[in-house]
Amino acid sequence: MMEERAAWLRQEIERHNRLYHDLDAPEISDTEYDLLFRELLDLEASHPEFRTPDSPTQRVGSAPLAAFDQHAHQVPMLSLDNAFGEEELGAFNTRVRRQLETNEEIAYLCELKFDGASISLTYREGLLILATTRGDGERGEVVTPNVKTCRGVPYRLNEPFTGEVRGEVVMFKRDFEAVNAARVAAGEQAFVNPRNAASGGLRQLDSRETAKRKLSFFPYGLGAGTLAGTQSGILTRLNELGFQRPPDARVCRGLEEVVAHLHFVQDERPQLDFQIDGMVVKVDELAVQRQLGATSHGPRWAVACKFAAEQAFAVLREVSWSVGRTGVVTPVAELEPVFVGGVTVGRATLHNMEDLRKKDVRPGDTVIVQRAGDVIPEIVGPVLSKRVANAQAVEPPTSCPECGTALIQDEGYVAIRCPNTECPAQVHAKLIHFASRNAMDIEGLGEKQIARFLELGYLNDIPSIFRLGQHREALIELDRMGEQSVANLLAAIEVTKTRPLDRLIFALGIRQVGERTAGDLAKAFRSLEILRNCHYDELVAITDIGPKTAREIKAWFEDPANQAVLDGLATAGVVPEEVAGPISEVFAGQTIVFTGKLERFSRDRAEALVMNMGGKVAGSVSKLTTIVVAGPGAGSKLAKAEQLGVEVIDEVTFLGRLPEGVTP
Ligand code: IVH
Repeated sequence: MMEERAAWLRQEIERHNRLYHDLDAPEISDTEYDLLFRELLDLEASHPEFRTPDSPTQRVGSAPLAAFDQHAHQVPMLSLDNAFGEEELGAFNTRVRRQLETNEEIAYLCELKFDGASISLTYREGLLILATTRGDGERGEVVTPNVKTCRGVPYRLNEPFTGEVRGEVVMFKRDFEAVNAARVAAGEQAFVNPRNAASGGLRQLDSRETAKRKLSFFPYGLGAGTLAGTQSGILTRLNELGFQRPPDARVCRGLEEVVAHLHFVQDERPQLDFQIDGMVVKVDELAVQRQLGATSHGPRWAVACKFAAEQAFAVLREVSWSVGRTGVVTPVAELEPVFVGGVTVGRATLHNMEDLRKKDVRPGDTVIVQRAGDVIPEIVGPVLSKRVANAQAVEPPTSCPECGTALIQDEGYVAIRCPNTECPAQVHAKLIHFASRNAMDIEGLGEKQIARFLELGYLNDIPSIFRLGQHREALIELDRMGEQSVANLLAAIEVTKTRPLDRLIFALGIRQVGERTAGDLAKAFRSLEILRNCHYDELVAITDIGPKTAREIKAWFEDPANQAVLDGLATAGVVPEEVAGPISEVFAGQTIVFTGKLERFSRDRAEALVMNMGGKVAGSVSKLTTIVVAGPGAGSKLAKAEQLGVEVIDEVTFLGRLPEGVTP
């Protein structure tokens, strides 16, 4: 009797779930639904033997776990190569046809590229028995209770399928807005974007927390098991098994149809309920997929077409002025927050005064905001048809908005600049740069910490970082610091005293001196002392250092304020590791091209390392190229390398070729 009631409740609740979530046509009120749910919960609590693993009560989350179990994927979860633009998509199609030795049009399945977190679901006889994250592609974390809270994950399929379904967990835009509003109201930090909220949600030890994020699942393929002979057939069969059908998936014959569908998806994108970051093009026939095979990075039968910048309209509240580490004053657009390119944007750069003049955006204007990938959001221009009457053009400030000093414009530069090297905004930005990851990499000394120490007077210039130990007791007393974190911070500062010379030169923040130039300087002069006293002629003699950079370097070292910084560093015991000839000659005679995204190195750092170790860096692949280091997103350069038979390595292999002790 009770058992029957439990079975009926399960079925009924599931039916209402479908009516509510999938059909948007609820038959009962939320209260009535809650009553049914409560009844099932109570029944299962008093009779645990009636609780089945596929009960809807298992969706709301269970008690917290201590840690996640690891699971080795039976078949690695690979990544996808990226194609930016139609040309690279064309190159992919050509590669496929060449490999298959055919002139026939290829049938591709075009799918949305969901911007979330990928997961693997294992079913045995139609029952969900395991759900894991992608992890590093080889091993993932077991997150079964969390995944059970996601909409669109059936725990019992309509057929006794045994195998592994893969797909993406996403957070719908409306849920993202609602969850964020609730977090802000509760005094918690808002999520940056739906993807982070989704992947973080999956990795909650308490699945009740996951449930709160209302995540959804879209399937995109199989890891193991058989359902059909084509990718499109698999999606149809998955739908019959009980998964939702991913929207806008379409079989396209040949490049022309693929490109047409790409345009359709791009137009559709703003209207979708969830975020996508591209379109995935997959060879439809599984037999052909097998023929094409895979590299260690990803399949040769699929490519991800990444979308260019996403744009949105926003209202410009005002233009504010920000002072950077070299004193340059930059106009910043303060916007009514808008969701664009995957994040909520409230500020965007206007680059410099000339850019502002050219774009002529005015407070009150509706402007177009653009954000591509991880790039800083920028303003494209105003929507003139929406300009309000008497909108005033923005005039540049004449005095520094931070310290009041009269601003100057250096000859040959478009930027306006605050000449006061003690300007608090400049000092702040200089310290942030000095401690940052690619510079001295001082762990624990971030933007907020620096602001606080400046305010308290514990920091006032670069050398004062190395005197923070004098304030040890006071630091410990500061809220949230404590003895251990102060000890950690001071130890982290101590180890940076012997950072390599190129890092220190870069960290000093000399205008025009990026990581690459810092590397050239370190290699040429080998000690800070020699660099400090070098001549202009010696500087311009270095390949890649032109008169403008040379003048900046000379001027920096001649400035008494900077000399005081160098003296202060020496007194504090900062003695960079000097360069005793090339660190190594591992790249002697090699010409290396970097392409695609580097995930561990900045591009400048990787190039500086190659040059420091006897190698040359080139921008394009030719017969002279000896190695191509290809990361995700590598496109035509990689194709060219393959065509010319040039050795192609990935970033990890590149890292492995560096001498021991050399780090990104
Ligand atoms: S297929 C071996 N299809 O993109 C093929 N992936 O860049 C593996 N993704 O890790 C994936 N939508 O998380 C595929 N329709 C789709 C996808 C998709 C999103 C994600 C997935 C994967 C990443 C690869």
